[in-house]
Amino acid sequence: MFDPHLVKKDFPILSRVIENKPLVYLDSASTSQKPQSVIDAITNYYANSNANIHRGVYTIAQEADAAYEATRESVKTFINAKSTEEIIFTRNTTEGINLVAYTWAEQNIHEGDIIIVSALEHHSNLIPWQQVAIKKNARLEVIPLSRNPETPYLLDMEWLKKYLTENKSVKLIAITHASNVTGTINPIKEIASLAHSLGSAKILIDGAQSAAHLPIDVQDFDCDFFAFSSHKMLGPTGVGILYGKKNLLEEMPPFLFGGDMIREVHQRDATWNDLPWKFEAGTQNIADVIAFKEAITYLTNLGMENVRQHDQKLIGYARAKLENIKNLKLHIPKNDTDMTGVISFAISGIHPHDIAEIFNSENVCIRGGNHCAKPLMESISVPATARISFSVYNTEEDIDIAIEAIMKAKKIFNIS
Ligand SMILES: Cc1ncc(COP(=O)(O)O)c(C=O)c1O
Repeated sequence: MFDPHLVKKDFPILSRVIENKPLVYLDSASTSQKPQSVIDAITNYYANSNANIHRGVYTIAQEADAAYEATRESVKTFINAKSTEEIIFTRNTTEGINLVAYTWAEQNIHEGDIIIVSALEHHSNLIPWQQVAIKKNARLEVIPLSRNPETPYLLDMEWLKKYLTENKSVKLIAITHASNVTGTINPIKEIASLAHSLGSAKILIDGAQSAAHLPIDVQDFDCDFFAFSSHKMLGPTGVGILYGKKNLLEEMPPFLFGGDMIREVHQRDATWNDLPWKFEAGTQNIADVIAFKEAITYLTNLGMENVRQHDQKLIGYARAKLENIKNLKLHIPKNDTDMTGVISFAISGIHPHDIAEIFNSENVCIRGGNHCAKPLMESISVPATARISFSVYNTEEDIDIAIEAIMKAKKIFNIS
C-alpha cells in the first residue's frame, strides 16, 4: 500500500492555503488534480519538442511523434487491449461515445432495434443514444434501479435478464462502469456476456469513473467499446480514449474527415488511413496526450490494486462517520465493495448548493447539483445531491475536515 500523505506531496495544487486554510480537494469525480510529473511533461514538450506529429522528418518532430505514440502503447498496456490499433485518442469520454454513436450506430442501428442504457447514466452516455434512437426510429430502454431494500442503488439485473430473453432485437447495451453519483460499480463482465449471448448485440462501457479507481482489463470484460477521460485519472484535460475491438473499428466509417485520417486523396474521393489514425483527423492534442503517459505511469507505480484498496479504506472511514450524522441521508450502495469513492448525500433542510458553499468557506471542494445525471435524480427522488469523491491523494484527515464542514452547515441552518 502507498501512503496518501506522500502522494499528496506530488500534487503542487494540494499545498495551497487559502485564507489560512489548507485546500482539501474532494471533487475528483469531476476532475482529478495533476502530479508534478504530468505538469512537467507538458512544459517539456513545449520547451523542447514542440512540432506536429505524423508529418515532419526533422528531429523534434520525430521526438513528438514517438512520445505521442508511446502514450498509446502505455494506454494499451494499462487497459490490456490487444494492440495499439484499438486505442483512439479523442477529446474526452463524451467524444468517444459520440464517435461510436455517429459511426458504428449509424451503420448498425435500424428501425425497431433496441438500445439499452441504465438508470445510472451520466448525460454523456444517455443523450447520444436518445439521439440515435430518435433518428433511427429505434427504441431506448433503461435498466431500472433495484427496488429490493437490501440492494439500493444497484441495477435490477433480474429485469435485464428477463428483458433480454424476451427481446431479441437488442443491438447495443451502453452502460457506465461506475456511477458518478452513487459510486455503484456495475457488473459489466456479466452484462457483456448477456449482450453477446444474443448474437449481434454489442456493449459499450462508459469508463469515465472507473479507469482511475479499478484495474481495467478490456479483454477480460469482453467489452466492444470502452471510453474514458485522462483528466479524471491524474492526466491533462482535452484527452479522451476510446478503446474498440479491432474488427469493429475496421468496419466503422471515419467520424471526422480531413488531414491525417486519409490514405489516398483524389479530387473527388479518398480512402482512409489505417487504425487508429483513421479516427484521428487533424492536428491532435499532442502536448496533453504526451503528458497523459506520466499519469498512467503514476497510477501504474502506485498499483491499481492498491488504488482500489485505498479507495475502499476511505469509503469505509467516511461511511462510518456519515452514518452517525442525524438528518443526513446517504445515496450509496450498502456494501463498500459495490462502489468506488464517490459518496452522494443529502441533509434534510439544506440545499446541496448551500452545503457546497459552506464547504467552500472551509476551503473544501465538493460538488452540489444533479451531476449531469438528471434522470437518475428523478429515479432516487431528489433534485440534487452533495457529493464528495476521492482520489489517491485523499486522506482520512480530509474526510475529518469534510465532516466538520457538515457540522458547520447543520449549525448555520439550525438542523439537529
Ligand atoms: C460517468 C461519467 N461519464 C461520462 C462523463 C463525461 O466525461 P467527460 O466530461 O470527460 O467527457 C463523466 C464526467 O463526469 C462521468 O462521470
